[in-house]
Amino acid sequence: MKKVITYGTYDLFHKGHYNLLRNAKALGDYLIVGVTSSDFDKNRGKLNVRDSLMTRIKHVEETGFADEIIIEEYFGQKIDDIKKYDIDIFTVGSDWKGHFDYLSEYCEVIYLDRTKGISSTDIRNTKSIKLGLWGFSDITTRFIDESKFVSGIDIEYIYSDSSDTLDSSTLAEYDLERKDDIEEFYESVDAVYIVEKPQNQYNAIMQALMHKKHVLVEFPILVTNSQINEIIELAIQNQCIFMEGLKTAYTPAFNKLVTTAKSGIIGNILNVEANFTQILGKQIQNQIQLVNGGSVNALASYSFLAFVKLLGLDYKSIQFFSRMNEEQIDIFTKVLITYENSIGASMVAIDAKSEGELVVAGDKGYIYVPAPWWKTEYFEVRFEDINQNRKYFYKFDGEGLRYEISEFIQAILNQKHSILLTHDEIKAIIKLLNMYTSKNIIKF
Ligand code: CTP
Repeated sequence: MKKVITYGTYDLFHKGHYNLLRNAKALGDYLIVGVTSSDFDKNRGKLNVRDSLMTRIKHVEETGFADEIIIEEYFGQKIDDIKKYDIDIFTVGSDWKGHFDYLSEYCEVIYLDRTKGISSTDIRNTKSIKLGLWGFSDITTRFIDESKFVSGIDIEYIYSDSSDTLDSSTLAEYDLERKDDIEEFYESVDAVYIVEKPQNQYNAIMQALMHKKHVLVEFPILVTNSQINEIIELAIQNQCIFMEGLKTAYTPAFNKLVTTAKSGIIGNILNVEANFTQILGKQIQNQIQLVNGGSVNALASYSFLAFVKLLGLDYKSIQFFSRMNEEQIDIFTKVLITYENSIGASMVAIDAKSEGELVVAGDKGYIYVPAPWWKTEYFEVRFEDINQNRKYFYKFDGEGLRYEISEFIQAILNQKHSILLTHDEIKAIIKLLNMYTSKNIIKF
């Protein structure tokens, strides 16, 4: 019996997939189809797969060509599968020509003609979300660059009032058309990405939501507690997705870290230490200008994300110890937060330096994330008995913004708010930022 194996994502199942499976089956007597798991796709940089794994499996099954369906979960699995299932022929479409020649050591490799003029990417792109840019800053260009890695999003328009210094060469470089008329801008887009100073955020967000546009706001959102309640209420009422662009929240490794910590593997969580410190550089200067503040306003959202995710929403007390410069801007702040059964600590600095690591201590072991933890791609679970230690690796590509963009698109398409940073968690982070008032600050 001739056994054939083939692999694919089979997202938004189309004729090309059908033809490929039919031709693969015709190569032998028994066809095994490997369908990629969502984690594996994320890990190999394939973001924005629309259909769930079960749906994709169902579509493959319905063709009737597959005698067996397996799940592809890791790099190198193809060699294991070929040996394990005693495969004679490995096949994929001709778009992969040459790529899998290394498998010829184990079986015959055949590249089948690809069906012309159709792909999952094309289908995703024909139903693209039109994202408009509100405001322009250093982060905007990185956002545009990263959006190219996510299919199903189209950034064409930017709204900017006349006081803005956005020049025509920048517009041309990023292929953007500037709209000066607000109504025209909103008519042209489905969603907006807002980069605004704190004092303008509330109005910008509310206006977008009133126009029934989905909203992604670059961090930190620095509005009052009652304003964020109003914003979220309006978003729900108008059936709009409202998300904060706190990129770490959406990265694969950070999410695994949170679920690993919560799984009980390190026992009860007793202490979280999360530092984010920088010496005044170009990027942080832009951020300070944008937030009109110092270390806490510019950076503490990241530490608060770790507290909220790992220790919960209901803290008992918070205290800030700040070093101010002549302009009364905190260049270094140590934050201490207490909960019923745990505590958190964080150093944030815009002009001082410490190790930017994250340590989650439990009564059975601890999790260690090396600097820069907010761009996590690796963490280690450590125990007293070092033989039990485990290392975990995940993909973190580019600036990491692509995961946030992908999550935003996914939330819009599913009409369901992201579970990676919930509305309650956004509120809790803002509430903690709003605790940075003279009453809670000890200056040194
Ligand atoms: N395939 C094909 N003809 C097409 C599209 C895909 O023969 N027009 C084949 C691929 O070569 C692969 C299998 O179908 O062997 C599964 O491909 P997959 O990557 O899931 O589909 P694509 O449409 O190429 O997806 P994407 O655009 O997301 O890369």
